[in-house]
Amino acid sequence: MPADSLAKAGATPSAPPAGNAYRPHDLIGTDIDLYLRQQQSKSLLRFITCGSVDDGKSTLIGRLLYDSKMIFEDQLAALEADSKRHGTQGQGIDFALLVDGLAAEREQGITIDVAYRFFSTDKRKLIVADTPGHEQYTRNMVTGASTADLAVILIDARKGVLTQTRRHSFLVHLLGIRHIVLAINKMDLVGFDEARFEAILADYRAFATEIGITHFTAIPVSGLGGDNIASQSARMDWYRGPSLIHHLETVPVDADALARQPFRMPVQWVNRPHSDFRGFAGQIAQGEVRPGDEMRLVPSGRTSRVRRIVTMDGDLPLAQAGQSVTLCLADEVDCARGEWLTSADAPAEAADQFEASLVWMAGESLVPGRAYWLKLGTRTIAARIAAPKYEIDVNTLTHAAARTLALNSIGVVEITTEAPIPFEAYAQNRALGGFVLIDRITNATLAAGMIHFALRRASNVHWQAIEISREAHAAQKGQSPRLLWFTGLSGSGKSTIANLVEKKLHALGRHSFLLDGDNIRHGLNKDLGFTEADRIENIRRIGEVARLMTDAGLIVLTAFISPFRAERDMIRERMPAGEFVEIFVDTPLEVAESRDVKGLYKKARAGALRNFTGIDSPYEPPLCPEIRIDTMAMTPETAAQIIVDYLAAGQSLFE
Ligand code: ADX
Repeated sequence: MPADSLAKAGATPSAPPAGNAYRPHDLIGTDIDLYLRQQQSKSLLRFITCGSVDDGKSTLIGRLLYDSKMIFEDQLAALEADSKRHGTQGQGIDFALLVDGLAAEREQGITIDVAYRFFSTDKRKLIVADTPGHEQYTRNMVTGASTADLAVILIDARKGVLTQTRRHSFLVHLLGIRHIVLAINKMDLVGFDEARFEAILADYRAFATEIGITHFTAIPVSGLGGDNIASQSARMDWYRGPSLIHHLETVPVDADALARQPFRMPVQWVNRPHSDFRGFAGQIAQGEVRPGDEMRLVPSGRTSRVRRIVTMDGDLPLAQAGQSVTLCLADEVDCARGEWLTSADAPAEAADQFEASLVWMAGESLVPGRAYWLKLGTRTIAARIAAPKYEIDVNTLTHAAARTLALNSIGVVEITTEAPIPFEAYAQNRALGGFVLIDRITNATLAAGMIHFALRRASNVHWQAIEISREAHAAQKGQSPRLLWFTGLSGSGKSTIANLVEKKLHALGRHSFLLDGDNIRHGLNKDLGFTEADRIENIRRIGEVARLMTDAGLIVLTAFISPFRAERDMIRERMPAGEFVEIFVDTPLEVAESRDVKGLYKKARAGALRNFTGIDSPYEPPLCPEIRIDTMAMTPETAAQIIVDYLAAGQSLFE
């Protein structure tokens, strides 16, 4: 935290609660350097609170902030304004007002996402992520929980274990939070009754065991009265465990455990700190490193030794998990961003097929088969998700068959990445096994994922090195391969124009091949229909076949509706630059419909044909195709000539 905000945080209320002698802010005025040193040497615990306002969550958080006397200036300003309005000015900030402030923020929707609050005790710095508890906010909870070491699950002592308690516990466990505190709150309202506490505990333990939570700490508290928050409550002398703050101060943080794991550092960028040799910069995700350590780069498999550990403050003899460093190796090895430096004696694995859990966080549902960006560590790569294996009902924890995942749903899926990537299981390391899925067009985050394990399916299938290269194939034919990708509505004229183009190419002695929608659907793709997922698979297969044909040196023409931008772009990306020529056969729907060569529009309008493009299934026109054919303005013959001329203008096509 920057010094100026610490100084601001020093402007806390003047009347600290009795019985708490620690005053961190006194130091700010007298010895700011000592204060900052103290802050820096303290460990940091991140935690999340799960529960709803009804469970007394705001009161509990308010109590934690109040008892540790750490309140930010903006919160203070708001509270002071409030106290002016209430005519309580000059009486200091009282606890009730602080809680009102927190609850009001929630009501106004200010903290509907995730509110992070920083506070500190004399032993530790703490960041609490306060997330809304309702089911429709599952994604917000996932956001808050993704970096938390600990979760406080709130239970109202009067109500006991509820459906939402189960949901929160399941999510916390799924997200790999190892430390769970069951804060059984509002004990004052059940007469501080030990038997009530024990009954809730037994209930929760039975459920926790069922979902694999092996240990948790239960604390009976009253947020309102401050019982067992900062110190032991005299009103519950039957309870012998720690107070909540004491527990938060002493629970081990994950960072310590990570330092003992084998070394892993995802490479963020490659630089040359001293112009003569290369350095690999990144943040150490686990383990430690010393000069002289043997390293293996994953997935490339190259090895070398660490020569220096360079930082802004000079070279280090040792660096550990959490530190950002530049490692210089003894040899000039190539390494791309996204590769990992790992210890040579316990290297990371790489794979391109995984089983994972997904929490879907976007309004638009998962489209099986579609390519998304998968971002894991410093690597972003195209990935496809097969139809979910099952979806998990977060309230009943039962598994149900599912064809997709919608907002806030959680499922188990199989993922295929475009190339092998290094990984750890999420249970092993959250930073190295957790990923997000991103929409390739809008860049929106769609889902958070957790890798379970790699599927070994493809590990024995190696890429066969072929001796006659694609260049050799093309040279023999005296042409440059091209993929002419025609796209447009059914009846727009794709097949007609593609046929004419192929005839012209043939007459010019070019080697070509035309793949046409209706024909391919009778053979290779006869198992596919017209759902979104089937169309995506249709286009993926055609793309692969067409690409192989260009490897053989051919000029390939494809005539498919190919309604989705994402899949067309995907094929473009898999081709060498300049070889993919997107041709938009632009015919307005009314015109295609009025031609209705196959009578299909009529059927679709009559409801006899479902998912018909343009009627009840979308068509996404290309944004910048290489060629746009306006079929209203020219004949198919002219269109074909324009396309052939375009090809002739390309470098070596007609040498
Ligand atoms: S794509 O959407 O997957 O690219 P494709 O080009 O292979 O479609 O097939 C489209 C052809 O299938 C159309 O020209 C039409 O003859 C026929 N067809 C049958 N049902 C449909 C439908 N529901 N939507 C679009 N085309 C259909």
